[in-house]
Amino acid sequence: MKILFIGDIVGAPGMETVRRQLPRLRRAYKPDVVIVNGENAASGKGLTRDDHDELLFAGVDMITMGNHTWDKQEIFDFIDGSDSLLRPANFSSEAPGRGMATVRKEAGALTVINLHGRTFMPPHDDPFAVADRLIEEASEISPLIFVDFHAEATSEKIAMGWHLDGRVTAVVGTHTHVQTADERILPGGTAYLTDAGMTGPYNGILGMKKEEVLYRFQTNMPVRFRVPDGGPTQLGGLFVEADDKTGKAIRVERILVNDDHPFNG
Ligand SMILES: [Fe+2]
Repeated sequence: MKILFIGDIVGAPGMETVRRQLPRLRRAYKPDVVIVNGENAASGKGLTRDDHDELLFAGVDMITMGNHTWDKQEIFDFIDGSDSLLRPANFSSEAPGRGMATVRKEAGALTVINLHGRTFMPPHDDPFAVADRLIEEASEISPLIFVDFHAEATSEKIAMGWHLDGRVTAVVGTHTHVQTADERILPGGTAYLTDAGMTGPYNGILGMKKEEVLYRFQTNMPVRFRVPDGGPTQLGGLFVEADDKTGKAIRVERILVNDDHPFNG
């Protein structure tokens, strides 16, 4: 099975980049399943129903979220009704929606799990324990399991990679918006990348207007961060190919597309 993951989509420029680049990535990688992190799709914070529908229309199979899951309140109206939208599985048991779902394709069934970190982030249930419980459940369906671990600390994400090595197909980190270059297949057969990076404005700060973020750093005054309207964009992601029978990764490739790293596929 071939899996394409696209990192945190930031605002309208990120959505436009997915629309423009996904067909090209599809031709190059021929993925069976496309997963995206969509928690920043709506102006940098949250996901609207239009964003959700548009991503599915573009051919996305599963949308994962993170700390901005609830920022657009309308998500409460559609999260329970969507089979293609996940929020972190280690949120409170009071949270609507689900943290795990299975995508069924000709190549097999892939279960996607979304988890949230706890280091330098709001407290949630133990993501390591929740992962153990969900993987046991998912393994009964298929050995193909993909984990998006939305977390701040590189160390917590690497710890999750080792914790799940040999039990899942891939662990990819999201949230920092800065791609790391440590993609590998761990000894047990789990594809791993600490952070996929973001998909959105290239000449900002983590996808937001650089002037406003800079002003905040310089003055410590409150300022509203906005997504730039135009300008060049980038796409960050990961491609994983797995053995359908064992669920082990056999190929991993980091994807970064921007003006400095053009995509020639
Ligand atoms: Fe985040």
